[in-house]
Amino acid sequence: LVLVIDFGAQYAQLIARRVRECSVYCEIVPYNCPLEKIKEMNPAAIILSGGPASVYVENAPKADAGIFELGIPVLGLCYGHQFMCQALGGKVSSANTREFGKTAVELDTDSPLFRNLIDQNICWMSHNDFVSEPPAGFEVLAVTGDCPAAAVGNAEKKFYGVQFHPEVEHTPFGKKMISNFLFAICGLKGDWSMKSFVERKVAEIRAKVGDKKVLCALSGGVDSSVAAVMVHKAIGKQLTCIFVDHGLLRKDEGDQVEKVFKDTFDMNFIRVNAAERFLGKLKGVTEPEQKRKIIGAEFIHVFDEESQKLGKVDFLVQGTIYPDVVESGGTGTSATIKSHHNVGGLPEDMDLQLIEPLRELFKDEVRAVGTELGIPEALVWRQPFPGPGLAIRVLGEVTEEKLKITREADAIFREEIANARLDRTIWQYFACLPNIHSVGVMGDGRTYSYTVALRAVLSTDGMTSDWAHIPYSVLDIISRRIVNEVDGVNRIVYDITSKPPATIEWE
Ligand code: XMP
Repeated sequence: LVLVIDFGAQYAQLIARRVRECSVYCEIVPYNCPLEKIKEMNPAAIILSGGPASVYVENAPKADAGIFELGIPVLGLCYGHQFMCQALGGKVSSANTREFGKTAVELDTDSPLFRNLIDQNICWMSHNDFVSEPPAGFEVLAVTGDCPAAAVGNAEKKFYGVQFHPEVEHTPFGKKMISNFLFAICGLKGDWSMKSFVERKVAEIRAKVGDKKVLCALSGGVDSSVAAVMVHKAIGKQLTCIFVDHGLLRKDEGDQVEKVFKDTFDMNFIRVNAAERFLGKLKGVTEPEQKRKIIGAEFIHVFDEESQKLGKVDFLVQGTIYPDVVESGGTGTSATIKSHHNVGGLPEDMDLQLIEPLRELFKDEVRAVGTELGIPEALVWRQPFPGPGLAIRVLGEVTEEKLKITREADAIFREEIANARLDRTIWQYFACLPNIHSVGVMGDGRTYSYTVALRAVLSTDGMTSDWAHIPYSVLDIISRRIVNEVDGVNRIVYDITSKPPATIEWE
């Protein structure tokens, strides 16, 4: 295990990614993680992340300096480099000029950190402060025009620090430098793979569950599906999956989910067809937050009723993934933009122990595990879909008629995006039904029908996004097909706002 200590970096997750790409397992902890806990985790090496603060200001984030007494290698990046140098007796000063962006750097290629690299190189810088005096025992290993100690190292203690960011792509030798740190300096092996991960998790789940019963709320989304299949692999029919079909799914989706889990994997699979119940509760409701709350609450009722029928259950599977874990460990002070309902969100009084087999994985690692477990591609590569489903894509009151129009338009949109081979590059693409009618002309007659809005965005995490520049020719085909094939639609518009200021979903 390599531990990344996070000082509030934008890039902490990226550092962890780079380490895992070297097949070395890695986790992130906040800078104030107690030394005792770090010792318990028993890391083979520590990487100190960057961060927005200055090390010399009051209340600057500081890690316990005991990490330098553990006898393991440490690599400091940007703020982490400054923190380490200051903690070990060096000096950090404020620079006259801010160094930002791609910067020429000269590397000491005799150091194991820069082994097999060329000495004149390019790195990505973003800093005001710099290490003006390295601590005793440290050598300077790289310089730039403005930064006299762009990299320093103490070969005996295996402590290294760099002012630049090796984790970003703009530092072309960054990956190689990180692998040098892990292999040449720390002597790690690089034997962490999805296959070994699945084997380890399956054994762990088996040991934890014994002969008890396990429950899973399956939504058909990537995370809950992969988690369910993994637990099924471990304990077979001791697992029961409940799939609440709230009638707000996309075209044919409920049947596809049923087919995969019942037929392909032969799981204990219960589908609850609760469309009428949900639509009944949503009747007359137009306010987005109220819709979300009603669906969340109703989901819990249905799930609760169904699980009561199963008798005593001890464990609950959830598809929590690593970014959820890292984010929920944050400050918790951000404003509620939308009350996200996850189909995994469950009654608090159920008194079940959680099994979260994907807690340590990033999204694309979850997909790799899904593929390893034999889950069909269409499911492994399914785009994100909100828990409240089409209810928040049908604006205003949700009715069966509006749902049908949205479903049909959305199916055509998806089909054409796949035909244009854009389905793996666009993060999310869907049809949405704003609550408007407009006048049109079809044949010789006037029409007064619905407008369909198309939304397609590029994103890496859903937190921010840009609208996708789908070629006009593809938009043209989609528009023609929807108005021709879907009754009740006479106008198509394309949403060209980024997030912020818009959000991805319309409600
Ligand atoms: P917004 O609309 O907030 O969406 O920009 C960001 C991402 O989150 C998805 N989303 C949800 N996912 N439950 C979910 O599980 C929800 O209630 C929910 N609302 C939005 C959205 O599809 C996008 O990927």
